[in-house]
Amino acid sequence: MSYRRAPHRQALLSELSDTVPSMTVEAGAELVEFDGQLSLMIAPVATHDPAAHVVDVDGEHGEVFTRPWVVDLILDLVGYTDDRDLAALVAVEPACGTGAFLGPLVRRLSASCRLRGRPVTDAADALRACDLLPGNVQRSRELVVRILTDDGWPLGDVEALASMWVQVADYLLQPMRVGAADVVVGNPPYVRLEDVPDARMRAYRHACSTMTGRSDLYVGFFERALMSLKRGGQVGFICADRWMRNQYGRYLRALVAGHFSLDLAIAMHDVDAFEEQVSAYPAITVISRGPQQSAVVADTTAVFGTDDASDLARYVRSGNAATLTAETYEASRLPHWFDGDESWPTGSPARLAMIKYLADNFPPLEDVATRTRVGIGVATGADGVFITKDTTVAEPERLLPLSMVADIASGRVQWSGYYLVNPWDDGGLVRLADYPRLYGYFEDNAVALRKRNVAERQPDRWYRTIDRIIPGLKDAPKLLIPDMRMTMHPVLDEGRTYPHHNLYFVTSRGWDLKVLGGLLLSRVATAFVEAYCVKMRGGTLRFQAQYLRRIRVPRPTEMSTHDAAALADAFERRDVDTATAIALRLYQLDTLPE
Ligand SMILES: C[S@@+](CC[C@H](N)C(=O)[O-])C[C@H]1O[C@@H](n2cnc3c(N)ncnc32)[C@H](O)[C@@H]1O
Repeated sequence: MSYRRAPHRQALLSELSDTVPSMTVEAGAELVEFDGQLSLMIAPVATHDPAAHVVDVDGEHGEVFTRPWVVDLILDLVGYTDDRDLAALVAVEPACGTGAFLGPLVRRLSASCRLRGRPVTDAADALRACDLLPGNVQRSRELVVRILTDDGWPLGDVEALASMWVQVADYLLQPMRVGAADVVVGNPPYVRLEDVPDARMRAYRHACSTMTGRSDLYVGFFERALMSLKRGGQVGFICADRWMRNQYGRYLRALVAGHFSLDLAIAMHDVDAFEEQVSAYPAITVISRGPQQSAVVADTTAVFGTDDASDLARYVRSGNAATLTAETYEASRLPHWFDGDESWPTGSPARLAMIKYLADNFPPLEDVATRTRVGIGVATGADGVFITKDTTVAEPERLLPLSMVADIASGRVQWSGYYLVNPWDDGGLVRLADYPRLYGYFEDNAVALRKRNVAERQPDRWYRTIDRIIPGLKDAPKLLIPDMRMTMHPVLDEGRTYPHHNLYFVTSRGWDLKVLGGLLLSRVATAFVEAYCVKMRGGTLRFQAQYLRRIRVPRPTEMSTHDAAALADAFERRDVDTATAIALRLYQLDTLPE
């Protein structure tokens, strides 16, 4: 019998746990498909490497403790409140430290038992906490004992509960019960994977398939916490929110977008949320297991605090769809979260709500329906050789007029006379023997050309540019868009030049390019790029193809001739205000939120 590693481990695991709800999955156990059936393999040897379990107690383990009001907010947000029968739920604190979350969890659990007249021993299975460091576990157990004895429970029961509830363990490597937890709350450690000893790092990567690249430990905490949830269960973490946008968060984004519901993200970047100052870009994130529901996004100022936290929690519970703007925070409700593993957008809650609305209701700029395409100009690897004003270096048909960033600064193409010495024709790379002047020129510059990576990889094609020239692009009307500007700057080339590498281009069969140019000139189009791109210092934006493709546009067929003419006119006059006003109307928006 043969098996293959299951392609989507998380998806299969979650399917599996639906049928076998309380299965214990050994950390790092390989989920495999046996002839189409799902099965679990025993934990692979790497996880049993004793070195993976060695802990240097004096090392860096991300011990940053959470302030009580933040903990209370998270417990309220996930509904861990004493009006519920908390002894019947399973709550998990995966990295308890000295008990910032554990204390309030135990207080609420104890109060819930009292309210229902249940002995606290009924809650033996209701709480699980762990920490890597024995000293932290000791202090947490002492805290549990203090809280419960103050609450009048018998010392014998209390001590037994404390040692059962709080364990020394590595959350990422301990056996995990899939589909067993109602809530997982905490503040996972901020430790970069590359700062973890090698054997443990290998075991982590093996146990948590979302921990890729330069991942941070918290990514694994999210993965394991999510996998441990029952249907309807919730994870509520205060944690860095970089995974929502950066490269290493890709698999975690895919896992969340594919199988969970991101219910809430409160950015708390400047808030004093921890007992010491850290620059971690934290956010409170609540994710539940189940189909994606509406999602609240909120942003806070540095002075956001206890009172604001209760107001915000009320807004979250209310289901209110209107944007809420208070002095210290702003919150919006999106109909659902963003899809896929591509970077999720950033911005004020009102901006995000707008982006979500546009993404849900308008087609993307690059679209087969309008035959619209976004691309980048040619990279050569040796601009000093390939780009020249000297028309004698090659046969005239081998010289391609090239537009550069400076050529379009005025808003029109004012070609500066540069050519690409073009080694391509429509059939591919030309034969040098057919073009003696070109051959001579490239031979004269062979040293520079051959030392480029692209030439080293393909020595017999040593005179190619990195990108091949797209047949017909020079002669096609196109919008040219320079990278690295504060706002979008689309310029129409009627079909006279080929774009250089710092220029992106948009071609289309379905759009009048002046009308499309007007839309792209509007601040709505720039808002998309602002939401998705990583801003450079000073607020410069990157207008790269990946961000331009995120822009949504109205359907050209649904636009009145009057609006189309007005947009084209605004484009011709470079009138951003008018273009924005028309665009807002076409997108059925009242204003462009800040
Ligand atoms: C950011 S602190 C948070 C502590 C506590 N939850 C709080 O909010 O104050 C993270 C804790 O994780 C613990 N830790 C680090 N790596 C761990 C691991 N692999 N498994 C369990 N705990 C870990 C650290 O010892 C530290 O106490």
